[in-house]
Amino acid sequence: MTMANAVRTRVAHAIASACQRQQRRGAVQYFRGNSKRKSVMANARGARRALQELLDAKGENEEEEEQLTGPVLKDSVQWTSPLSIVKYPDPVLRAPNAIIDCFDDNLRRLAEEMFEIMYDDDGVGLAAPQVGVNVRMMVFNETGEKDRKEAEVVLVNPRIISFSKDKKVFEEGCLSFPKIYGDVVRPGKVRVKAQDLSGKSFFMNIDKFPARIFQHEYDHLQGTLFCDRMGPEVLDSVRHELVQLEEDYIQKNPQAIIQRI
Ligand code: CO
Repeated sequence: MTMANAVRTRVAHAIASACQRQQRRGAVQYFRGNSKRKSVMANARGARRALQELLDAKGENEEEEEQLTGPVLKDSVQWTSPLSIVKYPDPVLRAPNAIIDCFDDNLRRLAEEMFEIMYDDDGVGLAAPQVGVNVRMMVFNETGEKDRKEAEVVLVNPRIISFSKDKKVFEEGCLSFPKIYGDVVRPGKVRVKAQDLSGKSFFMNIDKFPARIFQHEYDHLQGTLFCDRMGPEVLDSVRHELVQLEEDYIQKNPQAIIQRI
């Protein structure tokens, strides 16, 4: 725990006991029929909220100690334009993805082109390895609409801080698996730390549909594909299509070593 945290914790405890005092006073005034009761209770609620905010801030600082491990790309990221989507079972989808350490115009242009190809293919999320670039970056837009720029999210070097305990079932698709859909179970919410395109770190609490997209794309950065997450019955329902993709790939790339389902 850092010094700043120790001070925050003391303040939080002071607010917590003030909050309890307020509640006690509020209760007494309630029994006395005091008309100020409502505002006293509102103050107590405000104090509780302030306490929660302080606890959240404390959590963030502690979480900041965590580090990503793996290959690091110190140089400008390289790729060829226009991008194209890499399909299963291309080994690029299973290759390690480098931590990005160069936040330049090249990286910004890659993010832009990833959004473009994502919208063109009716996607809502895309990870860099899916365009053949093995670096830790993803883009998503839960609306899938080009004009909704305000919903665009770019995460560089994202890492998961925590998952919620609740689990949700959702039918997923993937741009690297054309016309294949299957149910996947994942936590409903996730807390994430990432960097933006200028390298600045930030935290994000993601839930609902964006939490689903994030976790799917995050898996890509780990070399994990959504078929790896399917239960046996779901996998059986798409097995034929997956094997077909594997056969097509091997026919075109006889030397390739692929990981089959
Ligand atoms: Co995907």
